[in-house]
Amino acid sequence: MADGLCFLSKDSLIIKNPKRNPLVMRMVVLIFVMVCGVYICSVCLRQYSAHSSERLLKVQVVERPCEAPIVEPSEKPYMHFPKPKTFSRSECACNPVRYFAILSTQRSGSGWFETLLNSHINISSNGEIFSVKVRRSNVSTIVKTLDNIYNLDWLTSASKNECTAAVGLKWMLNQGLMQHHEAIVKYFNTKGVSAIFLFRRNLLRRMISILANSYDQNAKLLNGTHKSHVHSTHEAEILARYKPTLNTTLLIPNLRQVDEMVMKSLEYFKSTRRLILYYEDIIKNETKLMDVQDFLKVPRRNLNSRQVKIHRGSLSSQVENWGDVEKTLKGTHYESYLQEDYKI
Ligand SMILES: *[C@@H]1O[C@H](CO)[C@@H](O)[C@H](O)[C@H]1NC(C)=O
Ligand SMILES: *[C@@H]1O[C@H](CO)[C@@H](O)[C@H](O)[C@H]1NC(C)=O
Ligand SMILES: *[C@@H]1O[C@H](CO)[C@@H](O)[C@H](O)[C@H]1NC(C)=O
Ligand SMILES: *[C@@H]1O[C@H](CO)[C@@H](O)[C@H](O)[C@H]1NC(C)=O
Ligand SMILES: *[C@@H]1O[C@H](CO)[C@@H](O)[C@H](O)[C@H]1NC(C)=O
Repeated sequence: MADGLCFLSKDSLIIKNPKRNPLVMRMVVLIFVMVCGVYICSVCLRQYSAHSSERLLKVQVVERPCEAPIVEPSEKPYMHFPKPKTFSRSECACNPVRYFAILSTQRSGSGWFETLLNSHINISSNGEIFSVKVRRSNVSTIVKTLDNIYNLDWLTSASKNECTAAVGLKWMLNQGLMQHHEAIVKYFNTKGVSAIFLFRRNLLRRMISILANSYDQNAKLLNGTHKSHVHSTHEAEILARYKPTLNTTLLIPNLRQVDEMVMKSLEYFKSTRRLILYYEDIIKNETKLMDVQDFLKVPRRNLNSRQVKIHRGSLSSQVENWGDVEKTLKGTHYESYLQEDYKI
């Protein structure tokens, strides 16, 4: 339209004033044509840029909403479509991602459990992120760290990146979780994070594992390196040779303290979507791992771990002063811990 207007006025100029000082007229025409040219250019440019931004807008609109698969409305808050800053989710951008946290206590099989989860192609569990103190210094550092993990921007060896369908971490109760429980429960409920509690039924076995592990921190039984988890039966046998002596005065108070902490954590987090698991049950019953995968809504697979259990034999053979331990626990609330609960 602008072109037509310019040519029309140029033509009429030439036609109307054919013989008045031709040189001046030519100059006028030339200047007019130049101005006209600049005008056309600017109009064209403006139109072009408007056009391209319109196109960009259209692309964004097409990209934005991932059509959520048809699910029950109660499921919606737990489905997420993160847009990581560090990479593109490419072909899996529209696969929903679930957020989880494994809440546990030390020496309860959570390391082993996590390797099992990470053997699933669509699960990324990023380890004990909050073992680093600064990350749990206060609620804001905790929230910032969680945001990073759940946006898939936390890069560890466990990150699967674009096709991750469940992302999480392992979090011990004594790593700020109990201390900041109110803010964390609120975060879980507003962001749709599911909690997987993993505990040990037999807290006496757990105590033995703790003592043996802390002994090895100094003794370093495996060729001078301390290992909390092992990958061969040979290494497991070496570590299991050490038999701790339990302090019978502290035995019951210690067991009670852990027991109470576990109960309290379940109470604190009772409003979150959660699954409660026991290490002993996972060992005994393979369908427990299917329950976990159903809970995380990932396709069922056989999960495996290269980790080897350290303490395999009977309980009585794992403690130096078994007789005293038996005497102390007989007739108490914790007597059941003395019984064999599983055989491998
Ligand atoms: C939280 O802790 C971090 C790191 O220790 C610190 O830089 C920040 O100022 C703290 N924020 C608040 C609100 O206390
Ligand atoms: C799981 O990962 C595979 C391979 O990366 C991918 O093709 C598949 O869509 C993913 N499944 C889910 C449920 O995200
Ligand atoms: C310790 O060292 C010996 C000899 O160097 C080797 O045969 C053995 O495999 C090592 N054991 C472990 C647990 O690394
Ligand atoms: C057991 O622990 C108590 C309290 O810490 C201590 O007084 C006692 O000496 C310990 N007993 C043994 C046998 O180490
Ligand atoms: C194994 O676990 C499943 C589901 O959690 C349960 O239904 C089943 O009864 C358990 N089997 C045994 C033998 O405990």
